Amino acid sequence: MKLYILNGPNLNLLGIREPEHYGRTTYEDLLALIREHAKKRGVEVVLRQSNHEGDLVDWIQEAYFEKADGIVINPGAYTHTSIALLDAIKSVSLPTVEVHISRVEEREEFRRISYLRAACVATVSGRGVQGYLDAMDLLLERGGKECK
Ligand code: DQA
Repeated sequence: MKLYILNGPNLNLLGIREPEHYGRTTYEDLLALIREHAKKRGVEVVLRQSNHEGDLVDWIQEAYFEKADGIVINPGAYTHTSIALLDAIKSVSLPTVEVHISRVEEREEFRRISYLRAACVATVSGRGVQGYLDAMDLLLERGGKECK
């Protein structure tokens, strides 16, 4: 199985940015945790981060053309604004899990809205960086079935 793990804006600053919300694990540490988990579970992972919305759209499309079995995405603030990401996920019909490190439901009102959620098979929120590993497990248990 092959999973794309995508991170949106400011997630490259994990460990530095607002540790009270996002913890002290750095982005590099997160990548190491994901790689280790992927190895243990025998799954191939493609890891990408960008501060630009269009890059995330391109990588969602790439996941389709590269025949990925699923996508784990933390869209950062684009969660709360991006119809383009919603459309991209709907376009490719790949099972996608939305991840948030912080518990977005318990923060500001505007963080309770997710444009992507409707196109995702699950949302993992408030579990810290463990949420990425949980999201991978959810997709692995699902067996990468197409999502319509
Ligand atoms: C986040 C939550 C978003 O509201 C925020 O804009 C982020 C990170 C999270 O992981 O908790 O950048 O997606």
